[in-house]
Amino acid sequence: MKNFISISRCSVDELCGLLELSIELKELFKGGGRDICLSGKVLAMLFEKTSLRTRISFQVAMYDLGGTSLYLKPSDIGIIGKREPAKDMARVFSRYVDGIMARTFAHDTIIELAEYADVPVINALSNWSHPCQAMADLQTIKEHCGELKGLKVAYIGDGNNVARSLAFACAKFDMKFVVATPAGYELDSESIARANEVCPDCVSQTNDPVAAVADAAAVYTDTWVSMGQEDEKEKRLRDFDGFQVNTALMAKAPTDAKVMHCLPAYRGLEITDEVVECSNSVIFDQAENRLHFQRALLKKLLS
Ligand code: CP
Ligand code: NVA
Repeated sequence: MKNFISISRCSVDELCGLLELSIELKELFKGGGRDICLSGKVLAMLFEKTSLRTRISFQVAMYDLGGTSLYLKPSDIGIIGKREPAKDMARVFSRYVDGIMARTFAHDTIIELAEYADVPVINALSNWSHPCQAMADLQTIKEHCGELKGLKVAYIGDGNNVARSLAFACAKFDMKFVVATPAGYELDSESIARANEVCPDCVSQTNDPVAAVADAAAVYTDTWVSMGQEDEKEKRLRDFDGFQVNTALMAKAPTDAKVMHCLPAYRGLEITDEVVECSNSVIFDQAENRLHFQRALLKKLLS
């Protein structure tokens, strides 16, 4: 495993290994232990878009493992490929650092970086996927529900990058994943087919949020307006009417169904404040597990 670009490109064994390592390192660090396996190593973090969790959790993870990181913010790098091609940047960075993580608009930018870099490349979110988030999410579900196999996750909202990575991740771990979106905002059929190749009929779509949450172990949502879609905001807010995760929708889910959101959450839009703050919410555990999962990922790829 050289890079971490998409969950669909990883084997089940690789993903299980990462999850186990993440749980192991979480215990170690929470117990006051140390693991400085990345001593002297440097991670370059390239951001075309803003970030809170991803930036800080990667930075802390590198620090925890004895290494360091360089944050290149959107105003430092602009759009990758504009000043110089991604393939040149990948080769230049490979001469200075031990790993590259990138948050980009176009997913192809990450693929091009990986193709030309001599060092590992990590996808820290593209318009197409958000694999680190999905793996931290599965760790969270495992911690709260026990085994993953057979559990159903209901995703309510936009068929976006977060939904796609969750679909791939659930299929790899033999879970059910139901995406409920308004018409026109479904996940593309190629992604659904790719997920179902791994686990037949594990991933399905509907336009009915109430049907989706029945029997769900977790109800997940994300923003209706992803970074880069700001111009569509007005139309999207109209189109997603009826897809809010609120108390009325949660009443249709099992009483112990967990509430999940990758954050940032827009209270009053895709989710209500009451549901974010309810006792079934595991949202801040998800955010914490970004750190633990990424420690495992960095150890695996960079050491
Ligand atoms: N969930 C997530 O990736 O958050 P940031 O955009 O703040 O990194
Ligand atoms: N779908 C959101 C996720 C943010 C973490 C976005 O791409 O903006």
